[in-house]
Amino acid sequence: MTKVLIATEKAFAAKAVEGIKKIFTGVGFETIMLENYTDPNDLVQAVANVDALIIRSDKANRQVIEAGKSLKIIVRAGAGYDNIDLAAATEKGIVAMNTPGQNSNAVAELTFGMLVFMARANFKGGSGTELKGKKIGIHAYGNVGKNVARIAKGFDMEVFAFDPFVSKETIQKDGVTVVGSVEELYSTCDYISLNIPATEKTKKSINFDLLSKMPKGATVINTARKEVIDEEGLKAFFAAKSDFKYISDIAPDCHDELLQFGNRYYSTPKKQGAETSEANINAGLAAANQIVDFIKNGTKTFQVNK
Ligand code: 3PG
Repeated sequence: MTKVLIATEKAFAAKAVEGIKKIFTGVGFETIMLENYTDPNDLVQAVANVDALIIRSDKANRQVIEAGKSLKIIVRAGAGYDNIDLAAATEKGIVAMNTPGQNSNAVAELTFGMLVFMARANFKGGSGTELKGKKIGIHAYGNVGKNVARIAKGFDMEVFAFDPFVSKETIQKDGVTVVGSVEELYSTCDYISLNIPATEKTKKSINFDLLSKMPKGATVINTARKEVIDEEGLKAFFAAKSDFKYISDIAPDCHDELLQFGNRYYSTPKKQGAETSEANINAGLAAANQIVDFIKNGTKTFQVNK
């Protein structure tokens, strides 16, 4: 019998788990749950005899992959797959997939919760500013970026984007102004929504020089990954620019040091961009269906280690 392990340090909503189990039961697969675990060794042990693995931000590192003696497929129920050791998976002939787009609305909605929070003096009662007429820069224009653009227009913001991997026409079709460089995006916009993945190229790419391009009173919203920020540059920029604001859904390593900047800095205690019942259902069920389609038919759509 095909065994599927769902390993989620941050458990899916109950409805999502119910739906996933239903899919697997329907095709005669066994579902094994490892939820809310705190010791990574629990995952190493639990993966030993399973054929398939569903994870969220859980780390499928080399140790986990090598422990999965029968493992054929890992699906990251979500967008970013920087938590999977792709080289190790490829070496072992394991297919790695993500479920693109399934939780992007949830992340985009949180972006605006964060934006309003920062614009309204952290809900502490002071006078704030409105979003209407302000310029937002979307860096980059994937599934989350596209949703950020849609919502931004509802706030009557001017929307700009930079993404070298998406055609100008695709972005313009959404009524978004395409800028020619990342520097231009930062120098144009009052708000920057970070929607880039963490790759070797993007890690630490948001640095002092780039932040320096931003206009007075600018805010950066990070719902992507903490690794894309050059934290030394971020700290230095906070100290140098008394009107700069940064809000993140993934606490930087220098979180404690940034607390001294008061209302100008905020981080959620735990990443919650995709923490909605809808996103859990969308991503969780997509992951389950992708596993069934792979095991039964060999379908490899959304494979990321090609
Ligand atoms: C993603 O890459 O899909 C998001 O960062 C969500 O991550 P999570 O499933 O761990 O909340």
